[in-house]
Amino acid sequence: MTYSTIPTARLGENGPEVGVQGLGCMGMSFAYGPTDADASRAALERALELGVTLYDTADAYGAGENEKFLSPFFKAHRDEVVIATKFALAIPPEDPSRRIIRNDAPYIREAVEASLRRLDVDVIDLYYMHRRDVNVPIEDTVGVMADLVREGKVKQLGLSEVTADELRAAQGVHPIAAVQSEWSLFSRDIEAQVVPAARELGVSLVPYSPLGRGFLTGSFTDAGTDLTADDFRRQQPRFNGENAVANAALLEPVRTVAEAHGASLGQIALAWVQQRSTVHGLPVIPIPGTSKPGRVEENTAATGIVLSDEELDLLEPISAKVAGDRYADMRFASAGRE
Ligand SMILES: NC(=O)c1ccc[n+]([C@@H]2O[C@H](COP(=O)([O-])OP(=O)(O)OC[C@H]3O[C@@H](n4cnc5c(N)ncnc54)[C@H](OP(=O)(O)O)[C@@H]3O)[C@@H](O)[C@H]2O)c1
Repeated sequence: MTYSTIPTARLGENGPEVGVQGLGCMGMSFAYGPTDADASRAALERALELGVTLYDTADAYGAGENEKFLSPFFKAHRDEVVIATKFALAIPPEDPSRRIIRNDAPYIREAVEASLRRLDVDVIDLYYMHRRDVNVPIEDTVGVMADLVREGKVKQLGLSEVTADELRAAQGVHPIAAVQSEWSLFSRDIEAQVVPAARELGVSLVPYSPLGRGFLTGSFTDAGTDLTADDFRRQQPRFNGENAVANAALLEPVRTVAEAHGASLGQIALAWVQQRSTVHGLPVIPIPGTSKPGRVEENTAATGIVLSDEELDLLEPISAKVAGDRYADMRFASAGRE
């Protein structure tokens, strides 16, 4: 089978054109069980060949390991790639297994220097606040981020898991290029307020976990029995026990649509997210995560699938029926602050 290069979309109002699908790199080092460095390197190269230019990491992924792992690839292709990384999930010295949310100026300054060092680049193309610390006014946090732009350490700013009000307040301080939040057939909270605000403000949407952390591909059902002991998905209520079994039944319409297109379930899940761009009228650049070159081919090919109105109608009821929260600790989601 031959694969063609994917189309592009604009990242932020005055930002660069990037491949309309990015690549989530978290699982290459962290969170989803065993990793394979050789396969991950091949996945990165294959993605670039297919027109993927936005690569997503964070300082928190493997406590810096993911940024270090990606560095040689980024350096080899510096002019072709758009590097997105994040700060805010700090490791408390007394317990390295925990993460605390920090948005204060000293922490941001420390975090950006550490990311630049690990990535071994002069500038970060897109720098996100990973999570919001409600004890720090967002204007102050974005003020520090804006200073990093002026100092040439960072090119564009992004926010992850923020509310519409937080996005508006941030945009009052400095243009925000992108909001990164969970958006998939299973997770549509942001459509009520965040997406309309982003459209109005000229902010692009970067959906994370567009494959529902792999659940929407049908590759596992109950994380508690199907995945390894260290897999983060074993902590997520919707992927475990009775919830997981009920949620697996919700994939039936996805299967119906997939059969009609001769596509996989994952491709239909991705096509649905890609199509949010036309449905909601703003640039949408999902970042499916995979560490396998064959799956990069499969996922990027989904950018060529267009779902009919009837098919969108069939998929529409799914999210309202999902059993179980996205996170065990919902302080990690913006939803509770709306
Ligand atoms: N801002 C945030 O708070 C936040 C939170 C979570 C994630 N993220 C970012 O978003 C990226 C994507 O999200 P995600 O990785 O959580 O979830 P995802 O993209 O929805 O799903 C990733 C999972 O699906 C599997 N997968 C990928 N393509 C597949 C295919 N074609 N068939 C079957 N399985 C497939 C992957 O396994 P293999 O690797 O084995 O293919 C992995 O287990 C992350 O890498 C990270 O950069 C951001």
